[in-house]
Amino acid sequence: MHAVILIGSPRKGGNTDCLADAFLEGVAAGGATGEKVYLDDLNIRPIGEVGDVHAERVDVRADDDYLPTLKRALEADILVFASPVYWQGVSAQMKCFVDRWSAYYAQPFLVEGMRGKVFAALVPHAAPDLDHARWVTEPVKVWAAHFHAVYAGEVSCVAGRKGSVCEQPHVLDQARELGRRCVALAKG
Ligand SMILES: Cc1cc2nc3c(=O)[nH]c(=O)nc-3n(C[C@H](O)[C@H](O)[C@H](O)COP(=O)(O)O)c2cc1C
Repeated sequence: MHAVILIGSPRKGGNTDCLADAFLEGVAAGGATGEKVYLDDLNIRPIGEVGDVHAERVDVRADDDYLPTLKRALEADILVFASPVYWQGVSAQMKCFVDRWSAYYAQPFLVEGMRGKVFAALVPHAAPDLDHARWVTEPVKVWAAHFHAVYAGEVSCVAGRKGSVCEQPHVLDQARELGRRCVALAKG
């Protein structure tokens, strides 16, 4: 069992990163392995023009880091979308990754590769209103349903300053617990 956490924040050591570390501790406690993928370190461009016929689509920007990153994500049993709330949505880094799915929309390696995977979300945000996390968690739930993946849940928290989530041990415990639960779900 292996987990890949897609990190949508450009802040290393930030709140998303801290949540991801705690999640990975839970994954390890459950007897699995995991890794973080910093999308901001990669050259993943916004999707280019795609044709209207799904089966005939090509990725006109396939010369960047996207395809190897997608394949790395597809090898995981557990796929975690870790993104801060940025203006009522996921970060641009995460959105670029997700949009590029549409260049491979009907391809079996994507459709079959996603089926049955365990999805989860890690979502810090600054506004003292837990509803803000919904801007990220609701899309992740829809992505899971689209790919026939299993949505295991999320950990969200109010954290604005860099690393301030580390001052909330109960939130880190929730992330550890979610990591353990994802492994248990993936093991079936
Ligand atoms: C461009 C940008 C947009 C943001 N938009 C929101 C927002 O709409 N709602 C919110 O609650 N916080 C918002 N924030 C705050 C971040 O979600 C928050 O600081 C988060 O903890 C950052 O995570 P990080 O430390 O992993 O980068 C925004 C921050 C930035 C930089």
